[in-house]
Amino acid sequence: MLKKPLIIANWKSHKTRSEAQDWLTKVIEGDEGLECVIAPPATLYGVCSKLPKHWQLAAQDVSPFPLGAYTGALAASQLLDVGISYCIVGHSERRRYFHETNQDVVHKCEQLLSVGIRPVVCVDQPYAQTQLELLASAGIDSASIDIALEPLSAIGSQQPADPTTEQVEIEKLHADWPDSRVLYGGSVTAENVGEYLLISGGVLVATASLDVSSMNSLVTQALHSKIK
Ligand code: PGA
Repeated sequence: MLKKPLIIANWKSHKTRSEAQDWLTKVIEGDEGLECVIAPPATLYGVCSKLPKHWQLAAQDVSPFPLGAYTGALAASQLLDVGISYCIVGHSERRRYFHETNQDVVHKCEQLLSVGIRPVVCVDQPYAQTQLELLASAGIDSASIDIALEPLSAIGSQQPADPTTEQVEIEKLHADWPDSRVLYGGSVTAENVGEYLLISGGVLVATASLDVSSMNSLVTQALHSKIK
């Protein structure tokens, strides 16, 4: 199934309310041919509730538990309640700093799918295969999730991974998960986004999404690119 390319702007732990407001007043509209998504910190869901045309809202994480006595955690149904349509799960920073495991990722996906939010599962080698097998054995199928291939060395390093190498990896993932979009993430910019959209189902962008003019250039380039 041919799906629109997905561009996710992950703000990580950046931006105050006034900075987010400023970004939102300057960002360009998306387009019917692309899915443009912003993943702000949870403190900014209110500010981000009114998005420009063709933009959607994502979360950067979700609780592995349902509603209940889980201090500090945001349940999937609470994310749905504030208009979230996508959720990044298993980002390498969650794995590294918060000790999130492959099994946590499965529980998080189950929670999201139970309320109709689409998970975007981040993977890298060497755990990509193990992670995806665990998802499959929990009954999660390709039609329900998107996958983001994010080589660790490319994240926040201004050293994007070689597109030829990534193309091979993306095709391998796509062979087993044919209905998922397989995104690329790691030092994506306006300058290289066209190259990555040729080999992937979209991009996950952090650093280049923080400055609104750089995000606008990236979206403009994406629209002009030959999209797979
Ligand atoms: P970057 O981060 O765009 O700053 O490299 C990507 C990511 O962490 O998903």
